[in-house]
Amino acid sequence: MARIFSGIQPSGQLHIGNYLGALRNWVREQNDDALYCVVDLHALTEDVDPAEVRRGSLELAVGLLAVGLDPEVCTIFVQSHVPEHARLSWLLECTVTYGELTRMTQFKDKSKRGDVVRGGLLTYPVLMAADIFLYNTEVVPVGDDQRQHMELTRVLAERFNNRFGETFVVPEAMVPTFAARVMDLQDPTRKMSKSELSPQGTVNMYDDADTVARKVRRAVTDTDGEVRWDREGKPGVANLLEILAALGDEDPKAVAERYETYGALKDDVAGALIEALAPIRARRDELLEDPAVVRALLARGADRAGEMASVTYARAAAAMGLLAP
Ligand code: TYM
Repeated sequence: MARIFSGIQPSGQLHIGNYLGALRNWVREQNDDALYCVVDLHALTEDVDPAEVRRGSLELAVGLLAVGLDPEVCTIFVQSHVPEHARLSWLLECTVTYGELTRMTQFKDKSKRGDVVRGGLLTYPVLMAADIFLYNTEVVPVGDDQRQHMELTRVLAERFNNRFGETFVVPEAMVPTFAARVMDLQDPTRKMSKSELSPQGTVNMYDDADTVARKVRRAVTDTDGEVRWDREGKPGVANLLEILAALGDEDPKAVAERYETYGALKDDVAGALIEALAPIRARRDELLEDPAVVRALLARGADRAGEMASVTYARAAAAMGLLAP
């Protein structure tokens, strides 16, 4: 079985892009060798509200359980509970170049948004590479927006291995064929995201049925009226088709053939989402009643992860010439 690792930031609300692009694959691929991480250190790269980071981390862990990750099967933990993530990140920062980091499109986009650009925003993908390397990860289930970070990760692994000797496994990204980039319902040229820029365009995982139905009904389409899967020409309709196709494990082209009108398509997208999200929301409400159970489980996850991480970190530190303590 392949070693799997992936991470998700505890900032903002979980939305259906996270679910269809990543979390569903996490659940499908979970096994004894899979680790899933609440990457709280990554969340510090943007404006920090300490209470929110703390609350968000626990709530996200609850969300991961609610979507169907089973802590008896896989390992679920919080990044900052395993100090080797930050430690290995530093070693890798000393191998990456400034040019490689400034070329990252996510850095370019995010650094344009705020008035301060913090160092952590620039080195963000290096921490991500450290996350992945620590567990000898072979497969990383992510959405389309992480492809470039994954390419840099592979470059860093190969460079380190060539320069300092075989140390890291070179990982592969696992990106779904459809709905790997769920678009904003109000602006289908923009990716659905956790930021609060477009509350009406974002379907959150815990939205109630009425809210989901309203957001889907108001989704921006086009005036051409024909239901057809065409990402370039008809991004709004294509997005709805991909959401429905992904939920039913179908092909969006085949789904399109069943519909004559946008109204009928929207009704079914809303219906399928409501059906998929209802049990997740119910399970999350249940789990939130007993956060101590979740915290205990995160502690166990961090112990398990920490054992593996310390071995890889020591190997990398030795390879780079750090004197063993
Ligand atoms: P994050 O927290 O932004 O998103 C978590 C996962 O959700 C996917 N995703 C989407 N998929 C489809 N459509 C969308 N609109 C959409 N929005 C988000 C993301 O691709 C991601 O898989 N850098 C990562 C977190 C991370 C990580 C890692 C991932 C840190 N270390 C190590 C893998 C391995 C991030 O910010 O994801």
